[in-house]
Amino acid sequence: RTLRWIFRLTYLSALGGVAYIGYGIYQDRHPPPQVEPDPSKKTLLILGSGWGSVSLLKKLDTENYNVVVISPRNYFLFTPLLPSCTTGTIEHRSIMEPIRTILRQKRGSVKYYEAEATSIDYERKLVRVRDESEVRGVAVETDVPYDMLVIGVGAENATFGIPGVREHSCFLKEIGDAQRIRKRIMDCVETAAFKDQPPEEIDRLLHMVVVGGGPTGVEFAGELQDFFEEDIRKLIPEISDRFRVTLIEALPNVLPMFSKQLIEYTESTFKEEKIDIKTKTMVKKVTDKTVEAEMAGPDGKKEKVVFPYGLLVWATGNAVRPLVKDLMSRIPAQKESRRGLAVNEYLVVQGTRDVWAVGDCAVAGYAPTAQVASQEGNFLARLFNNMAKTEALEEKIRELSSSLNIKPGNTAEVSREIEEYERQLRRIKDIKPFHYSHQGSLAYIGSEKAVADISWFNGNLASGGRLTFLFWRSAYLSMCFSTRNRLLVINDWLKSKLFGRDVSRE
Ligand code: FAD
Ligand code: NAI
Repeated sequence: RTLRWIFRLTYLSALGGVAYIGYGIYQDRHPPPQVEPDPSKKTLLILGSGWGSVSLLKKLDTENYNVVVISPRNYFLFTPLLPSCTTGTIEHRSIMEPIRTILRQKRGSVKYYEAEATSIDYERKLVRVRDESEVRGVAVETDVPYDMLVIGVGAENATFGIPGVREHSCFLKEIGDAQRIRKRIMDCVETAAFKDQPPEEIDRLLHMVVVGGGPTGVEFAGELQDFFEEDIRKLIPEISDRFRVTLIEALPNVLPMFSKQLIEYTESTFKEEKIDIKTKTMVKKVTDKTVEAEMAGPDGKKEKVVFPYGLLVWATGNAVRPLVKDLMSRIPAQKESRRGLAVNEYLVVQGTRDVWAVGDCAVAGYAPTAQVASQEGNFLARLFNNMAKTEALEEKIRELSSSLNIKPGNTAEVSREIEEYERQLRRIKDIKPFHYSHQGSLAYIGSEKAVADISWFNGNLASGGRLTFLFWRSAYLSMCFSTRNRLLVINDWLKSKLFGRDVSRE
């Protein structure tokens, strides 16, 4: 009897799952009708198509505004799985969601222009935008007016002005970066396997150097080692002993945002995986074939070390984009801010009106993560939905109050109605400031192991290993943007497990 119930429940949940996926697909294929901008509504201009902007769009009731989205990237990128694209564990299109399909699901007037914002005039409420794509028409540059502006342009790669970094290294922020790395790994491998290649050149070509021991560098190093152990070693065994990964970090340890226990676990796992970690080592210069660094010894004495490399991946965090820097320099209240646009507790850019900022380009006192950016985007959606309701209620109260003066017949009833609207208005206007709720940190460290620092009943739960890896996979799968993304990612995981990663170089 119990078995029969278990069977029924499993059957029902499987049915529910299929219905959920089916409904998701149906919705994607049958978007609501879209309308032209309504001149009586305010224009809400959103810059960027990343975590902050897309989370805002997802929850925003777009019928309340004329929405305009501007971004040079016509898709949303699920960055947590980007390191897996560098080795082909996941194909890049599986973690991209076209902005057009996202916007087609929205009601009201929502327009998208593929362009880069080049300057913001916050006094005249204008944004200058430029089409930077390869194909250009007659119109290339124009001004877009707004009533309300949200800046969600993210950040660029920090290089700290270190010579040679921009010219010789690969970054890991965008899809193009992951594709470049994937090609470069295979180029190094095939060149190392070339007939009569001298041994010292094979060693250089197969030395993969990662600079920056934050989560980007650590996850990439783990993915790289997996790729080599699980695929390259089997396909090209003659060079397999020469492959090395070195992770260089200026601080005394990697993953500074994780607990001590997980830092130690990561470092010991890397040792087992034969990933060489060089801590207290600061890179000073990069050439086309070497990385020059200063390494502090146990006595604090600094010595110069040179690492020849085949592939160099630079992952030393974020820097402010020129658009944001330029805006900050023109707002007196932003004088003291260095790492991005200083915002208040409602994410309003300090020193401006009707301008908000979200994500990596905003300084609200939190780390530059997808988790923070998406919560900020959700908060702005609630705020804007409430603001629209407030305006509608105020309009109704104004209308009723003036009708009281014109035809005083049913005064009691109208007054009651006004009171009710005022009560609703007080409730809506009472919006609490933005508060970030940290759900925890997760990182993949290679060999099907992950580390997790999870917030748990006001405490912290630290775990690392294979079970955490399963948790990491299911957490990121559930966070993928769409049903389509989820299915594609599952397919990629299965494909690379069953048949190995695709090592063809495009
Ligand atoms: P982004 O997501 O970077 O989006 C910025 C958008 O602005 C893009 O669409 C860009 O094209 C657009 N843009 C740029 N310039 C302009 C312009 N001039 N005009 C208009 N639009 C412009 N965080 C986590 O919490 N968990 C993770 O597991 C995690 N993994 C990561 C892995 C990698 C490899 C990387 C690089 C980051 C990871 N992060 C993670 C951090 C996270 O991706 C960022 O914090 C997050 O993307 C910030 O969101 P955002 O909206 O501010 O910027
Ligand atoms: P990061 O800022 O977290 O780490 C960069 C590291 O590079 C620092 O530890 C720094 O000491 C080091 N560094 C800087 N200059 C150096 C030099 N010259 N030589 C050697 N080392 C140097 O940057 P990262 O990893 O790119 O992450 C950016 C943001 O994205 C962070 O907020 C991070 O939390 C988030 N992120 C989160 C992930 C996750 O939760 N799994 C994954 C990837 C990124």
